[in-house]
Amino acid sequence: MKKKILIIGANGYLGAQISIHLANQGYKVSGLCFPEIPNDTNWINLFENLFVSDIRDTKKLAEIAENQYDILIHLVSLDHHQSNASPDFVASVNITPTWNLLDIFTKKGLKKFIFFSTIHIYGKDIAGDIAENYPTNSQNPYALTHCISETICKYYAVNSETDCTIVRLSNSYGSPVFSENNCWWLVVNDLCRQAFSDKKIVLQSDGSPLRDFINGIDVCRAVENIIENGEKNETYHISSGKTYSILELAQIVQKIYKSVYNKQIDILTAKSTQNYPKKYIINNNKLTQIGFSTSVSLDEGVKKIFEYFEKKQL
Ligand SMILES: NC(=O)c1ccc[n+]([C@@H]2O[C@H](COP(=O)([O-])OP(=O)(O)OC[C@H]3O[C@@H](n4cnc5c(N)ncnc54)[C@H](O)[C@@H]3O)[C@@H](O)[C@H]2O)c1
Repeated sequence: MKKKILIIGANGYLGAQISIHLANQGYKVSGLCFPEIPNDTNWINLFENLFVSDIRDTKKLAEIAENQYDILIHLVSLDHHQSNASPDFVASVNITPTWNLLDIFTKKGLKKFIFFSTIHIYGKDIAGDIAENYPTNSQNPYALTHCISETICKYYAVNSETDCTIVRLSNSYGSPVFSENNCWWLVVNDLCRQAFSDKKIVLQSDGSPLRDFINGIDVCRAVENIIENGEKNETYHISSGKTYSILELAQIVQKIYKSVYNKQIDILTAKSTQNYPKKYIINNNKLTQIGFSTSVSLDEGVKKIFEYFEKKQL
């Protein structure tokens, strides 16, 4: 029988994509949305159950847990910017719910808890081959809160029967399921939007910062791999394993724009700081060992974003 999955943060940028992917693979998917369920009947029909609740409402979480899920995927967090608010508030959304969810659902026979963390927990000054045992060095509240939630997961990995899996995602990109999704600040999406709307790309840096980018379609496939083949209580990078400078990314966006629209656009960079980052790779060997490989190249992914803009007539 296909597994029963509860997605916490189902209407979010990643949650909405993961819900569609897993429902299409035949899993019985339920979701928790906030502040409301998106008005899209096709999407709603994919779910066994959809709930609306603030993640801080533990009474509602306990009610939902009565439905007994095999897998819970926890995708709720404030973004980088919102995570700079008061520690009380940020902890109440980014940290305490991880503990409450684990406390409530492990007692109801949950088999697997998947927590979405971030490679930001390694800090900015990373270099070389970054595997999952690389030392953490949180340098902002967003990273810090994910790191603390990871510690809570590791506690339950030891002190409950539930498989507590942590995924550390690099930088996802791609068109959203819902136009209201909080995704246009993500760097690939932002540069494509600039190219399409402004007919130029203006970088906030000299283009030297390095990033690993992974398309949302591949994030969904990686989650499915982890559900089916992941080792108990493991930590996995979800990354492409390829690193680009922001300037290289901008040049790819420029190249694809030219191939689609037959027009050359300019790339404007900020003044060089002469402070070049060290090379690194977000190693995804653990994920590839359980059967994952990327399916969408950066070129293809950028092209698909332009197709999305065309379809939406933005
Ligand atoms: N998108 C990326 O590239 C990326 C990279 C690394 C890590 N992550 C992590 O993956 C997870 C999902 O990211 P995303 O890009 O989908 O972000 P998102 O902002 O689109 O999703 C966050 C979800 O949390 C929900 N939420 C916020 N406050 C809530 C509350 N009080 N009660 C209930 N729900 C609440 C939102 O409604 C949304 O569904 C986050 O933990 C994020 O830090 C994302």
